[in-house]
Amino acid sequence: MELCVALDLPTKEENLELVRAIKEYDVWLKVGFRSYIRDGAEFLKDIKKINPDFKIFLDLKLYDIPNTMADAAESIMGLGVDMFNVHASAGTKAMKMVMDRLSSFEKRPIVLAVTALTSFSEEDFTKVYEKGIAQKADQFAKDAYDSGLDGVVCSAYESESIKKITSNEFMTLTPGIRPFGEDAGDQERVADIAYAQNALVDFIVVGRPIYKSENPAEVVKKILENI
Ligand code: C5P
Repeated sequence: MELCVALDLPTKEENLELVRAIKEYDVWLKVGFRSYIRDGAEFLKDIKKINPDFKIFLDLKLYDIPNTMADAAESIMGLGVDMFNVHASAGTKAMKMVMDRLSSFEKRPIVLAVTALTSFSEEDFTKVYEKGIAQKADQFAKDAYDSGLDGVVCSAYESESIKKITSNEFMTLTPGIRPFGEDAGDQERVADIAYAQNALVDFIVVGRPIYKSENPAEVVKKILENI
């Protein structure tokens, strides 16, 4: 299991300060909406300047018509990131078109599909998708697997079932991780490290428990010692 640290701080400088503080650790860095919209591709270069070995997960959750998604995926190729994601609810046509477009490149990033956002409660999810989280997450995962993606973003609670219906090699990346039972914030379906490990999760994403702590490097070290 690998640790992915979410860079969700209010300013670029604060994010880079966090990156500098943890530069000796073998972790992935997750660049999401907030940071990428504000700081753009330059921010990715700044990260690599601190440590070129950092792997970057660009968490933009693409959702659009198939051709626009494939065009965006091709543009992402130029950023040199190691992983990005799309929404499975964009459909198999869109996911297949993305993978097809990337197939012409010699080396491509890991591509994941978002199943159900970890901030959804069962009730709120059902209002949007008309089925329960577990059932729909399984279906989205199967769609992503059949479309040739490498894995899914899901909660730790769906990881095991998703692997069962796809393959053990089909990756699961789970946000909503509270490594040692910290405050959940706006997340509904949180799990700790031990749970994620039992559920065969490949990547845990941790944001607030790290960047809101007094000593982020210490928290990262403790997480790495426990995974
Ligand atoms: O602070 P916290 O650990 O809750 O951060 C989780 C991160 O994972 C946030 O950047 C959030 O945008 C992202 N995420 C999520 N649920 C998903 C996909 C991404 O919480 N399904």
